[in-house]
Amino acid sequence: MCGIVAYIGPKQAYPILLKGLKRLEYRGYDSAGIALIDNGQLKVYKRKGRVAELEEQLTGMPLSSTIGIGHTRWATHGEPSDRNAHPHLSQSGKLAMIHNGIIENYAQLKQELLTQGYHFRSDTDTEVLLNFIENIRHHNQCSLEEAVRIALRRVVGAYVIVLLDADNPHTLIAARKGSPLVIGIGKGEHLLASDASPILEHTKEVVYVNDYQIAIVGADELVLKNLGNERQTPFITRLDMDLAAIEKGGFEHFMLKEIFEQPTTVLDCMRGRLDAYQGRITLSGVEQHLEILTKAQRIIIIACGTSWHAGLVGEYLLETLCRLPVEVEYASEFRYRHPVINPRDVILAISQSGETADTLVAIEKAKESGAFIYGIVNVVGSSIARLSHTGTYTHAGPEIGVASTKAFTAQLTVIALFALRLALARGTISKERFLSLCNDLAALPDKIRHVLDHGPAIAKLAQHYQHATNFLYLGRGYNFPIALEGALKLKEISYIHAEGYPAGEMKHGPIALVDEHLPVVFIATKDALHEKIISNIQEVRARKGRVIAVLTEGDHFTAQFCEACMFVPEIEPLLSPIINVVPLQLLAYYIGVAKGLDVDKPRNLAKSVTVE
Ligand code: G6P
Repeated sequence: MCGIVAYIGPKQAYPILLKGLKRLEYRGYDSAGIALIDNGQLKVYKRKGRVAELEEQLTGMPLSSTIGIGHTRWATHGEPSDRNAHPHLSQSGKLAMIHNGIIENYAQLKQELLTQGYHFRSDTDTEVLLNFIENIRHHNQCSLEEAVRIALRRVVGAYVIVLLDADNPHTLIAARKGSPLVIGIGKGEHLLASDASPILEHTKEVVYVNDYQIAIVGADELVLKNLGNERQTPFITRLDMDLAAIEKGGFEHFMLKEIFEQPTTVLDCMRGRLDAYQGRITLSGVEQHLEILTKAQRIIIIACGTSWHAGLVGEYLLETLCRLPVEVEYASEFRYRHPVINPRDVILAISQSGETADTLVAIEKAKESGAFIYGIVNVVGSSIARLSHTGTYTHAGPEIGVASTKAFTAQLTVIALFALRLALARGTISKERFLSLCNDLAALPDKIRHVLDHGPAIAKLAQHYQHATNFLYLGRGYNFPIALEGALKLKEISYIHAEGYPAGEMKHGPIALVDEHLPVVFIATKDALHEKIISNIQEVRARKGRVIAVLTEGDHFTAQFCEACMFVPEIEPLLSPIINVVPLQLLAYYIGVAKGLDVDKPRNLAKSVTVE
């Protein structure tokens, strides 16, 4: 949600900022802007629209500066427009600022500033905070760093801010609370960004800034302080990521690349953890806390969006394999309820980005109540990873397409590993069943590859259904969450209204929608409930619904009842969600493409939701 990037060093800042913004554009893309200091003059260029439009506008302009800040926006306060785009300028024109997050008490701060004669050019909370800082600097005759410190003590909300001061072209001031900030340490240069992607091609040495820290950044110097003005030692870590991981690698879209990466990402997330030959699963997070985990009374899964769907699959797996009560919570609801949390509750926090604001706050709350937090997170070093007591990284690599695909199958794989390991420790699984499931896990990458071979057939199918205005997705058991995920993918990418339902619930409402225009996607692979779902297919057919089904290869019997089929290889039902979601990802992708939409950056969405 909003991408920020900043540079200070010997090189020209503009090309570095521009490239950085393109890398961060998945975070928000309704407007973009940069600020530079050229000959002591603070210059701001910003506009509504994509980074490419800003670039076009600036082509051929002399943009000389070795310091600068850049922003790509996902609107919160104020519509997407030129004047609401960041960076914002302070009233004096001396300070420019970019911001990711929400200042919740901005209205009160704005009122105070209005009474002191301040005027506002935008509708944003950012401009309010910036002028608040400027006002403090003016009244206290203090340094910008001091003014930021004083201001932030009054601020309620979440932020990463970076400030540029026309009178001090050798320093950037940044601060964080609740939104992510990474600082790259190069040779005589520093880069600041919302994530590591703009930094990677310049340096692999990074510092993750913590909440309530202020960074004073020169070309050669990085000072971190807390809000009490005490210096804190920057903890330098090395990025374990290649540039190729954040580029399209010949695919038309990141989403397609990420769908096709799944055989590898699923393998990567089992690497060193699953030894199918020996029948062993080793998750360091589990091994180190085996006692807490085996004695858990209940597991509460907290997540948002696609990660929440992974959590729902987790509920089925953990209940079946570990015989443990499981609850799956929307983080945004959980954080405002009065949940009963016991010290023997284990929280599984699932998040691709590791920065989702609601998930972060929900687990903070559970942690305060004494629960043990196990993070299943993709982005290494992210806030949720750091807040968790322990956890397992999904190792899916950077996911750039806004609609989550490879991160989801990696989450499911980690959850399956976790559930199996815990079941073994709790004695709720036989050795034979454990061994057989280990072998099934090991076979997953090849089976996903096999599904991907059907890509062209699914693309054809998408052409056929692209004009439908509604879709229904139905599944049962382990595949009910896959119905939800399939519907979500379609909504996100194609803007077609789609609903996911447990197939057994169809009669209690959704069946009223069925007519000859409605495509109904069934996840109907072979499992214990197969016959029940065939009955549901018949019920839809009887009402002239257009049945599309995900079926097990060779299931010609069910195929005869369907208008269209997507086949997947046979698999142990418990692991079938990991395979069955893949054709649904492809279907959503190809429908989005057929409709000519920007599947990597669907309207109104953002990859990393760092505001609540
Ligand atoms: C956003 C993204 C989704 C994602 C959700 C949760 O809505 O667009 O793809 O599933 O946030 O994000 P997380 O990073 O916590 O998994």
